[in-house]
Amino acid sequence: VPSFEQIDFTDPDLLQRGGLPIAEFAARRATAPVWWNPQDVGKEFYGDDGFWVISRHSDIRAISKDAGLWSSNLKGFNVRMPDEAGPEHLEASKSFLIGLDPPEHTRMRRIVSRLFTPRAVGALRGKLDAYARDVVTAAAESGTGNFVDDVAVHLPMRAILDLLGVPEADHQYLADLADAMANAEDPDIKYNPFTANANLLAYAHAMAEDRRKNPTDDIVTTLVQADIDGHALSELEFGFFVILLVIAGNETTRNATSHGINAFLDHPDQWELYKRERPPTTVEEIIRWATPVHAFQRTATRDTEVGGVRIERGQRAGLFYSSANYDDEVFDDPFSFDILRDPNPHLAFGGNGAHFCIGAGLARLELDLIFNALADIVPDITKLGAPVRVRSGWLHGVKRLPVSYR
Ligand code: HEM
Repeated sequence: VPSFEQIDFTDPDLLQRGGLPIAEFAARRATAPVWWNPQDVGKEFYGDDGFWVISRHSDIRAISKDAGLWSSNLKGFNVRMPDEAGPEHLEASKSFLIGLDPPEHTRMRRIVSRLFTPRAVGALRGKLDAYARDVVTAAAESGTGNFVDDVAVHLPMRAILDLLGVPEADHQYLADLADAMANAEDPDIKYNPFTANANLLAYAHAMAEDRRKNPTDDIVTTLVQADIDGHALSELEFGFFVILLVIAGNETTRNATSHGINAFLDHPDQWELYKRERPPTTVEEIIRWATPVHAFQRTATRDTEVGGVRIERGQRAGLFYSSANYDDEVFDDPFSFDILRDPNPHLAFGGNGAHFCIGAGLARLELDLIFNALADIVPDITKLGAPVRVRSGWLHGVKRLPVSYR
């Protein structure tokens, strides 16, 4: 057994410096696909000083499908909490939908699942297409700029905040708060993450007040009217639902968009192919390549074994989607960006279990619309510099990508 250097794969400097550590994962996956990851933050509330890395596609899928054995709640879903977080923050994170276990999870998820069905999402196409085209047209007029701010942020922000019922004047404010929470360890965030959390909760509660008096057809109204076995959502359950949707809706699709254009500009043959043929397989490959969520975690509810390694009850397992999506047991030639790749069973939205991304259909629609708009309106887009990544231990994000639109 080769002895590998002890690396914390949730070290925020790692992703910021080098992007997804896919070569490192490939070497380890081939020899010892489950290994111990030391972690120096969160000892006092996780009650441990590390977790098991699960690197194989097959193991991540199996764990994701077994919510009874693998809890999202015991130690939460975050594979890393921000440096200044305390036990109360871990407790709070367990109240998000994504941090619940069945049967609570099942009841809560049912409240919103019908809002994200293919039919519901399909109904947004016309409006979002027009908006995607406006965004790209405005960027084109500016000549050059930061692709992330000019293009990538806008469509995801508009889509989820419109659905929630947030007026447009407040969109940027809420997106900045979501950034501060999701990118808590990045020095460029505009708010302290805990202040951001409090501000988002306050904003959500003000909306709830209003919708109780003036119900409409937005998600906030759905949430305030929700009935779970005769009970309404508690204040906190409601607030965390809104926050999760704001973060999940903004932070992931934005990064898939930025990584996607970056991949195209690094692989001009693929950009030419896309412009000519618009292969329907494109969006999945962008999502696989980008893998916006590096990892989430589960905690073993009893002693078990993964890949020949014994995992004890109460120990954490980090599901590294960033490793699974480049696993050569599943993907031919995983390191090539190939928009014709088919099939493409990536795990960027999770491993098809109870928590599978509720917004996957919406994200796919947004990416389809934005890349079509880019190919139509700024076909000659070029890169003026390397992407600057977000400093984060779990989110594979881009904050700057200088481009010329002409
Ligand atoms: C859950 C990724 C877009 C809302 C998840 C999970 C991942 C993920 C990995 C956890 C899956 C698991 O644990 O099995 C992504 C990526 C996106 C994206 C890569 C874009 C490319 C969105 C959008 C929304 C959204 C646009 C907006 C509605 C959610 C919610 C959950 C979730 C609410 C929690 C579901 C649950 O716990 O039952 N997403 N997501 N996501 N996502 Fe997404």
